Amino acid sequence: MMNQFRWLTAGESHGKGLVTIVDGMPAGVAITEELITKDLLRRQGGYGRGKRQQIETDNASILSGIRHGFSIGSPVAIQLENRDHDNAAWETRMATEPITEPIDRVVTLRPGHADLAGTQKYGFDDVRPVLERSSARETAARVAAGALARALLAAVGINVYSQTISIGTIQLSTELANNADWKLIEQSPVRVTDRAVEQEMIKEIDKAKADLDTLGGVFEVRAQGVPFGLGSHVQWDRKLDGRIGQAFLSINAVKAVEIGDGLANASRPGSLAQDLIQPWSQENPKLWDRASNKAGGLEAGMTNGQDIVVRGFIKPISTVPRTLPSANLDTGDSENSFYERSDVAVVPAAGIIGEAMLALVLADALLEKFGGDNLSEISSNMSAFLETVKPRAIK
Ligand SMILES: Cc1cc2nc3c(=O)[nH]c(=O)nc-3n(C[C@H](O)[C@H](O)[C@H](O)COP(=O)(O)O)c2cc1C
Repeated sequence: MMNQFRWLTAGESHGKGLVTIVDGMPAGVAITEELITKDLLRRQGGYGRGKRQQIETDNASILSGIRHGFSIGSPVAIQLENRDHDNAAWETRMATEPITEPIDRVVTLRPGHADLAGTQKYGFDDVRPVLERSSARETAARVAAGALARALLAAVGINVYSQTISIGTIQLSTELANNADWKLIEQSPVRVTDRAVEQEMIKEIDKAKADLDTLGGVFEVRAQGVPFGLGSHVQWDRKLDGRIGQAFLSINAVKAVEIGDGLANASRPGSLAQDLIQPWSQENPKLWDRASNKAGGLEAGMTNGQDIVVRGFIKPISTVPRTLPSANLDTGDSENSFYERSDVAVVPAAGIIGEAMLALVLADALLEKFGGDNLSEISSNMSAFLETVKPRAIK
């Protein structure tokens, strides 16, 4: 399947910087460096992050594809500097040019990372080149690309939000999750609406930190204002639920994805697992209303006009401060895994990355359905289609 909205990232964690190129951005969408930087800062926030987030204050630099504050239809290239790189040790360790001075190789393997398989697969005697690219620093470039997708979606009335559902054992109730206040969530260091749950999550993170341990959890991403018919039922790789699943599972440390009530539905009888379609009438003029949204806005790989609801399940951060027993790459001998400054819990940040990933998949599906080279063409194609989705007898 040819993507309409394509993007790639490049960059190592302590290299000169990160780059993303987004191809397929239609003309006429308002984009500024400030808009992208705002999302980058949201990704850097969150209680439980390590020291690096204080060193790196990400700033987006747009190199192409935008003119006078609007996209012009050509590829958009964005560059993010790695401020960490600006010191002699990293300049040598990550130099792109050949070097003469000796460097310390990383030879202690960390479980739960790319270290072992990556060094074997690429034939290195040093873990550094592997850990540099597998680091979640790369997700900053995804968030930059995602900011473009979010701007395109917002221009046609689709908005993407995220909240934290759990950190460690502390869980937000379904009722609270369904009554999210997105403004309050932006002010919360753990991205929840409820202040009592927020304090419990903070305590849980503090406890893990004191125990020299780390935590995982669950984040939720919602897209509101999504029209009918994005994605398709006709071919496996066009199914939008599958595309969202792939996008979420590609986020570092995400090991499971749930769409709507995916987990709960597995143990419900079929009669209680559907979102009943409400009859249309003068009294209930909302077209194709549903009694619930257990499907999370997706049926048979297509959007059904309801909000999209996706959850990502994150394993605890692999680099555990108390260090874990491991082995040496050179000798195979027992050795404790090394500790390089690390995060304790990243669920709130992962929510921001999830927003970017959902927005990128939806932008692609939007262009597939409503095509067009500029924003007004896409908007009018979408309006024309939405005019056709009434009950067939109604003109
Ligand atoms: C926002 C974010 C920050 C992360 N920070 C760290 C970190 O500081 N230390 C660490 O060991 N893993 C961190 N991870 C997870 C690792 O990047 C990831 O577990 C590792 O690359 C192995 O990949 P996998 O867990 O997807 O299999 C982070 C993940 C995310 C989403």
